[in-house]
Amino acid sequence: VVENSFTVHPFGYHGTFIHAASVGELEIIEQGLLVVDAAGRIALLEKDILPSNIKDTLATNGFSTSTPVQVLARGQFLIPGLIDTHNHAPQWTQRGTGRGRLIMDWLNTVTFPHEARFADPEYARNTYASCVDGFIRQGVTTASYYGSLHGEATKILAETCLEKGQRALVGKCNMNRNAPDFYKDASAAESLQVTEDFIAHVRKIDPTSRLVTPILTPRFAISCDAEVLSGLGDIAAKNPDLPIQTHFDEATQEMQITKELFPEFENEADLYEHFGLLNNRSILAHCIYVGEYEMGRLKALDCGVAHCPVSNTTGGEFGMAPMREYIRRGIKVSLGTDSGGGYSSSIIDAMRQAFVVSTARETLSGGKDPSLSIAECFFMATLGGAQVCGLDDKIGNFVVGKEFDALEIHTVGQNSGIITPVEDVDQLPDLFEKFIMSGDERNIVKVYVRGRSIKS
Ligand code: GUN
Ligand code: FE
Repeated sequence: VVENSFTVHPFGYHGTFIHAASVGELEIIEQGLLVVDAAGRIALLEKDILPSNIKDTLATNGFSTSTPVQVLARGQFLIPGLIDTHNHAPQWTQRGTGRGRLIMDWLNTVTFPHEARFADPEYARNTYASCVDGFIRQGVTTASYYGSLHGEATKILAETCLEKGQRALVGKCNMNRNAPDFYKDASAAESLQVTEDFIAHVRKIDPTSRLVTPILTPRFAISCDAEVLSGLGDIAAKNPDLPIQTHFDEATQEMQITKELFPEFENEADLYEHFGLLNNRSILAHCIYVGEYEMGRLKALDCGVAHCPVSNTTGGEFGMAPMREYIRRGIKVSLGTDSGGGYSSSIIDAMRQAFVVSTARETLSGGKDPSLSIAECFFMATLGGAQVCGLDDKIGNFVVGKEFDALEIHTVGQNSGIITPVEDVDQLPDLFEKFIMSGDERNIVKVYVRGRSIKS
């Protein structure tokens, strides 16, 4: 059993904090004072506090005046931790390969042979250590991970997240058909049994889901027969706290095969809903070809969309999800790296690619679907991700009572990386935009989850 109970020594930050208040609503708090308590929660957030008033403000609010407070300089700010709502952990080391292949060809030639290697716990341990470190370094404080189909390796992934302090949803991938014999669940019963055993293990190592939560992970309907899908639907019904993730309306080839396998359903929304897998806990990756009827179902059932603009534009079919339409309808939206499917495992890259793709949609729609703003892309990467993961009561922005998952960002000085600040010209919004549009892990100086600093 991995021990993950810990307390932090209360500490504070003074300076600029930038977060999303809602979709499209960016709040820049200047001269803020934020205090994190021993439980890793935001215990105080005051605006317009002069540095000379820090101690008075601490005292007035019942905090010790010896609480260490880090004062941020010009060009430095805090943002909430980045949330990656669609990530295949085993694909961490295959990123950059297989571009241009249609989905089924890519799965069969690149992905399944590689994921099969996770039968070896040692391989899993090494790859997952590198993966979780890599995502933490890039500011991902919460990830929704697909594991491989292996129970043992997926337990190792959950333990790795706990040990390294990353918040995560972790799922054993269900796939009992349309995959090679060397990489396929032995039967529907075995697929479900390994899933239940995995869930029990995660509940044992993190009983209150302080950091890690199990998630039901039918890979997609092509790789799951009706017995697996309905079995997972039963588990979902019996465990109303379990989130669910799958791929949804991702590619023409995938949708056509799904239709052939399940001719009784008009569309994927009806299919997954029938099996009890479509509800407010569902994280649906890609959602590129969602028609009018399905949009209505996603909204009515309160499903979340994991937009993966990097992999959508790297594979053999260039896909552009209708994010403007989802936002217009109030459907929950977030960002995923999809890891292996694309060229990047950075949510910062996902933010800017979301912007680029939305601009293409604006042009192609003759202006009907305006491109996304920086604020909207940033929302998807933070508060939107928290909503999609069902964690917005805990994380996503800086609100008293929420847990302190945050990044300390530098845009000037020795950690400016590739950002090119112009002294006396760039104001805070300019520096923030430069970070979103041109920054990378070099600008992420500290990474906190539940108040604990975890970037080494
Ligand atoms: N559909 C089923 N499996 C996968 C996967 O691993 N990646 C992507 N992008 N789509 C999938
Ligand atoms: Fe995927």
